[in-house]
Amino acid sequence: MPDSKDAALSDLLTEDRRFAPPAAFAADARVNDAAIYDRAGADPAAFWANEAARVPWMTPWETVTRGQFPHVTWFDGGKLNLAHACLDAQIEKGRANKAAIIWEGEDGEVRTVTYRQLRRDVCRLANGLKSLGVERGDRVAIYMPMTIEAVATMLACARIGAIHSVVFGGFSAESLAGRIVDASAKVLVTADGGWRRGHVVALKDEADRALLHTPSVEKVVVLQRARDPFPCKMTPGRDVWYHDLVSVQPDQCPPEAMGAEDVLFILYTSGTTGKPKGIVHTTGGYAVGTAATTAMVFDLTDDDVFWCTADIGWVTGHSYVVYGPLQNGATVMLYEGAPDFPRRDRFWEIIARHHVTIFYTAPTAIRAFMKWGHELPELHDLSSLRLIGSVGEPINPEAWIWYHRHIGAERCPIVDTWWQTETGHIMISGLPGVTAMKPGYAGPPMPAIDACIVDDDGNEVARGSGTLAIRTPWPGMLRTIWGDDERFKATYFSRWGGRFYFPGDGAKRDEHGNLMILGRIDDVLNVAGHRIGTMEVESALVDHPAVAEAAVIGRAHELKGQAIVAFVTLKDGATAGTPGIGKTRAETCETLRQHVAAKIGALARPEEVYLTADLPKTRSGKIMRRLLRDIAEGRAVGDTTTLADPAVMGRLKDLYADTDG
Ligand code: WT7
Repeated sequence: MPDSKDAALSDLLTEDRRFAPPAAFAADARVNDAAIYDRAGADPAAFWANEAARVPWMTPWETVTRGQFPHVTWFDGGKLNLAHACLDAQIEKGRANKAAIIWEGEDGEVRTVTYRQLRRDVCRLANGLKSLGVERGDRVAIYMPMTIEAVATMLACARIGAIHSVVFGGFSAESLAGRIVDASAKVLVTADGGWRRGHVVALKDEADRALLHTPSVEKVVVLQRARDPFPCKMTPGRDVWYHDLVSVQPDQCPPEAMGAEDVLFILYTSGTTGKPKGIVHTTGGYAVGTAATTAMVFDLTDDDVFWCTADIGWVTGHSYVVYGPLQNGATVMLYEGAPDFPRRDRFWEIIARHHVTIFYTAPTAIRAFMKWGHELPELHDLSSLRLIGSVGEPINPEAWIWYHRHIGAERCPIVDTWWQTETGHIMISGLPGVTAMKPGYAGPPMPAIDACIVDDDGNEVARGSGTLAIRTPWPGMLRTIWGDDERFKATYFSRWGGRFYFPGDGAKRDEHGNLMILGRIDDVLNVAGHRIGTMEVESALVDHPAVAEAAVIGRAHELKGQAIVAFVTLKDGATAGTPGIGKTRAETCETLRQHVAAKIGALARPEEVYLTADLPKTRSGKIMRRLLRDIAEGRAVGDTTTLADPAVMGRLKDLYADTDG
């Protein structure tokens, strides 16, 4: 596998190897003066006031920011509308006939919509939603495949001031129902199905199972995407086809003037308890934060075709497929399907076919591409690319170098961007025309972002590692957790006397001020760039009638970053052979894996399940996950002196060595 080029890899990975911005790139970059950091740091409010000029305010704002953690406002007094900013304002700037979205279906169909066409589609749907009774402030759940209509649905909600809550199409009926109920959504927009590796994922069937438990939902709008037609049950009086709804609507719908602090969307993410948190984002600060970071980090120009591969079900899809790039008038590439369908070079084919210039993806994907071999990208002309990015989890230096060499042709700067559902937009990243990039390091905090590293007592650490903390508010920060402000305060601001925002990541800093993100330090896993709470998986497991107790941990995984490993104790009397749990241990484990997938979604299915008579616990009954991690990663087991029964560890090790689980 190592070729002559890779032979020099170890040289490139020496601890302080940095990659200066390519001269050709820096010369034309929108930001190419490092003075931006000092200027922003000296007066962050002035910096953001200046950035706010990117947004087409309907009524000017009065104050840049007010309040302190946990409750702050940004651009109070201002009125705006995100659909107006993404569409009308672009049309006014002369982009009416520019491609807003180039969409490629998994089956190869290509559709392009211009800004003017997208505004018409959004307005029709906005009018359609109104005709179904959706009013300003109402919640609309969106459970859709990656289509132009999914983007249009988000923008239609924004246009009429309805709050969207997008639920990733890979989540189960139960997860969807939980999110719909928590937000008491009035309308659900979904599709008959979505395409994944040549098969239809029956979204409407899954939604119908969820809808048995969601009394708040009055109407369901169904996009016909799987077609052919894909059999899908429509409930009279409740369900309406998307095409029937929009076909009778007028092409115009005036955008609602929204207050800067009116809620734009809710997006659920996992935390340290079994219940996902509805992260609340408001309009003004989020608009400014996404518009500004998209321009600064991705250096967008009018000629760019910008491809962020994230699904709109995640915050990356919200901020860098929809709101950031469209506010900047970019052409957005949207792809419906899997990277390995029909072949493992699909992404490279798309880049070449549509002349993608900026490509933003996740390390888990990069590691898969690496495994599939550099021969695949070499089959395609990737010379349109000028900047490439990474997001979602730490990128290991080997993957960084591979990306730099085989996708970026050692010519494109790489931006490794750290942020979260909660932060709304990028917080830590190099600026491609300014920063010398260092593999494995996300880079310095963005201009006007006050990130630091603190020790357990909340003292700042100048060099070395500790806990990542944010010292001052930023425009796109979450405002609360939907319906649970106490949890909001406790989760993010209860440490260190509320002086910092606590993101839940460990980090270290080098002598240049670059930050390396070391991963979660709470009971949250990052599996293939997706956040999953260990408690969520544990609750799904103990929900199975045969399970007494479960402990879930993350084990380092070559492709996914982390893989889910579950240690499960069955109830007394429940043994292999008990109905519902399988005849053999292997069958039982498989049943439990599928049970989790059905409860939460396939993304939470444990890689491995081990049945064990007992779990390592302290005398007070707390499960010591640290010891389980030692076992799962094959390390020497750490300190066991606080265990109630140290002999448990020996038994667990034997079990783990016995590969059939
Ligand atoms: C968590 C947030 C932000 C969009 C996608 C994930 C991890 C994110 C990086 C990065 C190292 C990263 C962190 C963070 N993370 N980006 N560039 N380097 N880690 O959003 O689901 O809210 O997850 O993803 O652990 O806390 P999310």
